[in-house]
Amino acid sequence: MGFIIAVDGPAASGKGTVASRLAAAYGLPMLDTGLLYRAVGVRLLAIGGDLDDPSAAEASARGLDLSELEKPEVRTRAAGEAASRVAVHPGVRKTLFDLQRAFAEREPGAVIDGRDIGTVIAPDAHAKLYVTASPEVRADRRWKQLTGQGESVTFDEILADIHKRDARDGGRKDAPMTQAVDAILLDTSEMSIEQAFDAARRIVEDARARSGNLPG
Ligand code: DC
Repeated sequence: MGFIIAVDGPAASGKGTVASRLAAAYGLPMLDTGLLYRAVGVRLLAIGGDLDDPSAAEASARGLDLSELEKPEVRTRAAGEAASRVAVHPGVRKTLFDLQRAFAEREPGAVIDGRDIGTVIAPDAHAKLYVTASPEVRADRRWKQLTGQGESVTFDEILADIHKRDARDGGRKDAPMTQAVDAILLDTSEMSIEQAFDAARRIVEDARARSGNLPG
């Protein structure tokens, strides 16, 4: 098996940026698993379906085409909320499992970011990071991103979204968001992107030295 780097953490923690920088540094393909759940939510909303209906959500996951991850709609605030709601259904998670696992098992390895990568999708990952930041810092980052995309939303609305999403993602029964026992915590609250990447790289280098595995 190739070198697998699992990057988990809450919404807008900086995990996506850290994951894509690591992928570029090590020459590994990257999978943003949040996009899978976002696309499942978006395609269900497009047909007027109920996000809280387990069988409708599972059917949406079964019909997913990976080209849907490229659509700009999956990056919206509504898509994030829809993703978190469809992600509670075990049938949705089961349907998306094989695809994620197959990605993890490909040579030369992968960087995968999400909520349950180090715990469920790739418990055998060589390096595990749990990237977090304070709710206020995360809300500020997400607010800048969304308003930059042209969405009209206040900081307080985003902060409320963040608290609701943390409670739902961390409180669900199936594969809740949690730090794996062997994951290293990286709090990016006070860090620039460059500092977060440097810290992440050191964590991966330590893991690589321990496992004796060279990525790429
Ligand atoms: O990383 P993100 O904000 O794009 O994720 C959107 C939602 O998808 C998140 O609130 C919960 C769900 N998700 C999940 O349950 N498991 C994952 N591995 C990734 C995302």
